[in-house]
Amino acid sequence: MRIACLGGGPAGLYFAISMKIRNPEHEVDLFERNRADDTFGWGVVFSDETLGNIEAADPPTFAAITRAFAHWDDIEIHYRGAVLNSGGHGFSGLARVKLLEILQERAAGLGVELTFETEISDLDALGEPDLVLGADGVNSRVRERFAAQFRPRIDWRPNRFIWLGTTLPLRAFTFFFKADPHGLWRVHAYQFDAEHTTFIVETTEGTWRRAELDEAGEDGTIAFCERLFADELRGHRLLKNKAVWRQFPIVRNESWHDGRHVLLGDAAHTAHFSIGSGTKLAMEDAIALAGALARAPDDLPAALAAYEAERRPAVESTQRAAAASLRWFEETERYFGVLEPPQFAASLLTRSLRITHENLKLRDPEFVAGLDRWFAAGAARQSGAKVPLDPPPPPMFTPFRLRDLVLPNRVVVSPMCMYSAADGMPTDWHLVHLGSRAVGGAGLVMTEMTDVAPEARISPGCAGLWSAEHARAWRRIVQFVQAQGGRIGVQLGHAGRKGATRVMWEGIDEPLPEGAWPIEAPSPIPYLPQSQVPVPMDRAAMERAKADFVRAARLADEAGFDLVELHMAHGYLLASFLSPITNRREDEYGGSLENRARFPLEVLRAVREAWPAGKPVSVRISATDWIPGGFDGDDAVALARLLKGAGCDIVDVSTGQTDPAARPEYGRLYQTPYADRVRHEAAMPTMTVGNISSRADVNSILVAGRADLCVLARAHLWDPYWTRHAAFEQGYALPWPNPYCALAGYTPRFQ
Ligand SMILES: Cc1cc2nc3c(=O)[nH]c(=O)nc-3n(C[C@H](O)[C@H](O)[C@H](O)COP(=O)(O)OP(=O)(O)OC[C@H]3O[C@@H](n4cnc5c(N)ncnc54)[C@H](O)[C@@H]3O)c2cc1C
Ligand SMILES: Cc1cc2nc3c(=O)[nH]c(=O)nc-3n(C[C@H](O)[C@H](O)[C@H](O)COP(=O)(O)O)c2cc1C
Repeated sequence: MRIACLGGGPAGLYFAISMKIRNPEHEVDLFERNRADDTFGWGVVFSDETLGNIEAADPPTFAAITRAFAHWDDIEIHYRGAVLNSGGHGFSGLARVKLLEILQERAAGLGVELTFETEISDLDALGEPDLVLGADGVNSRVRERFAAQFRPRIDWRPNRFIWLGTTLPLRAFTFFFKADPHGLWRVHAYQFDAEHTTFIVETTEGTWRRAELDEAGEDGTIAFCERLFADELRGHRLLKNKAVWRQFPIVRNESWHDGRHVLLGDAAHTAHFSIGSGTKLAMEDAIALAGALARAPDDLPAALAAYEAERRPAVESTQRAAAASLRWFEETERYFGVLEPPQFAASLLTRSLRITHENLKLRDPEFVAGLDRWFAAGAARQSGAKVPLDPPPPPMFTPFRLRDLVLPNRVVVSPMCMYSAADGMPTDWHLVHLGSRAVGGAGLVMTEMTDVAPEARISPGCAGLWSAEHARAWRRIVQFVQAQGGRIGVQLGHAGRKGATRVMWEGIDEPLPEGAWPIEAPSPIPYLPQSQVPVPMDRAAMERAKADFVRAARLADEAGFDLVELHMAHGYLLASFLSPITNRREDEYGGSLENRARFPLEVLRAVREAWPAGKPVSVRISATDWIPGGFDGDDAVALARLLKGAGCDIVDVSTGQTDPAARPEYGRLYQTPYADRVRHEAAMPTMTVGNISSRADVNSILVAGRADLCVLARAHLWDPYWTRHAAFEQGYALPWPNPYCALAGYTPRFQ
């Protein structure tokens, strides 16, 4: 095969090597615009976990790379005078120039034609090779030339960073966080050989401009950074190497191949340097592409398709982690000075979701014990409850106070419609469903959306609370839960324009074919084209709905509920006032957020007044509509502040379901960033919900301060004893109800 390879970075060189190892007959011409010993930047990092692939692909290269490695286990975080150390991470680093030298030598030894100082600007000048490799980095010419086929999307991120070097010796992968009058600066630093340390300085665009670094040049930047980091550098100098301030581009392509052209490494995809995976991804691409070509030597389209199919899931997963990590560094101001040092460290270490509380514990049990002790002591102070500190409980088993209510742990059973009521009356299904989840150990069990009037229901099967009879039926359930030591909250709601629909299993959101009741909303916009058109609410209708909420809150107290949650999410009545997608009013209830929130806040204040002062009120919101021009994160923060002012004690942060036009970005913990943001920016306790399913995630969220309570829905449908299982797996003793006391000496086996 005749191959023209653009780019002599890790992707191009390692692909050339991988091809020649498989078949020395391949003719590989590699063109690199730089000199052989030129390089931008300083060191590159690999985590221990990533080295296996490289070892298997080419043992001699692996041996040469590992001989050049500096290795370290610890991450050290310098934050407001504290130095926090977390061990067991396992990284290796080497100079980028050294890595390239090793790869160049190996490639040349295998017979790759290496041509340096040759920039390929015209791809046609390459003649007619069988394969053209676009390994030409982040500004790839190959990608640009065939943009119509690759369909690249490049997201230039706002932070500024510069890749510097220094002679400062460091024993760990080190993060420095430092504020000066211009703003907050972050440094990612690691020593990669006997004399050199990579020192990447990163900050927001605003801070960078205030410091006038946009006009400083390399020398000016170095002088500024040496002054700023004089204490950290301990007399060492910063070194220059044609460094420039950059913005990070997240590169994605719809396709990585077209005809005989294929993209690899940074040309195809980038992953932010804060997770140190760019070089690894580039080299893994090279291994996969060479493998795919060997498996289908006579069918290039099939080989290229197989390469992309193999690599895309792994690359996208790394890109998701890298994007979360990148966002953390874009938003560090949110945490700096707000979080105490242990929590700041936990937030930093778990930022990409790749490393959890569980992983940290395996890597460095002592560090996590300290973290858990710090968290437990805070929980004891916050709740006024006794919490053992030696050993401390896992974060999820610490108490949390809301007014007079003290939850024994941080796990919440999410509200879930059961569509099993008749005329709003809860049945034995609800008793068993909610009762078993209370026995299952969750700190708080929430009822499904419980409607405040018959015409406020989503479906004929929805539960309600509008009469003394309903309160009596609920009381039976509430008393059962509380008798098991559980706490139970009721979610009060009004379906608004999503009302009068079928039960879930007969067609969610589909209008009732018969027996539908009239529905109302802020504006006459049907949910689906075939849905009923809601009647726009006038003042009298609002008064009626508010009175229904107040009556339901009083009945909820009669029933003995511990907490009331107002449902202002998912496109139901109160949510549809909040979202500009569903609220098109031109009166004082539409337009600005303040206007759109007017009626929901009125309801909240009225409920707060009717509900006992010692009992908490929570509000569930959709923090984003996932629709351009819709309700979004900034609105969620502003709303949370308004809710706080109106007596809300905790915001239960969900997202979406406002309108069928939504395009949610689903994924693990996909709604948690919104809870984190509301918690820190509105200084409001939060619950987080959405694709949380492991105890590792729950503990990580809590200890990092992303939310105060973790709400699990489908995980609890699957396993009513989810909390008990989590306790057992962590060696934490959760007392059983008396009838199950026989379990005291019993050890379950799940496999
Ligand atoms: C600040 C920073 C820190 C980083 N830290 C790390 C880290 O610690 N660990 C890690 O794994 N990764 C790190 N990376 C990422 C890493 O550098 C890249 O992901 C990796 O180099 C990708 O390899 P590549 O071969 O695809 O691209 P590159 O290494 O960019 O190589 C592309 C090559 O193509 C050449 N080229 C481009 N156009 C042409 C042309 N028209 N003709 C001829 N030659 C051309 C370029 O000169 C270049 O040498 C970091 C990146 C940055 C910006
Ligand atoms: C069967 C079912 C019914 C639901 N009913 C409600 C509800 O009544 N009120 C509500 O706010 N959310 C409701 N939801 C949404 C969940 O509370 C939760 O926000 C969502 O399922 C995401 O959490 P998970 O990933 O843990 O399932 C329901 C979800 C399911 C699966």
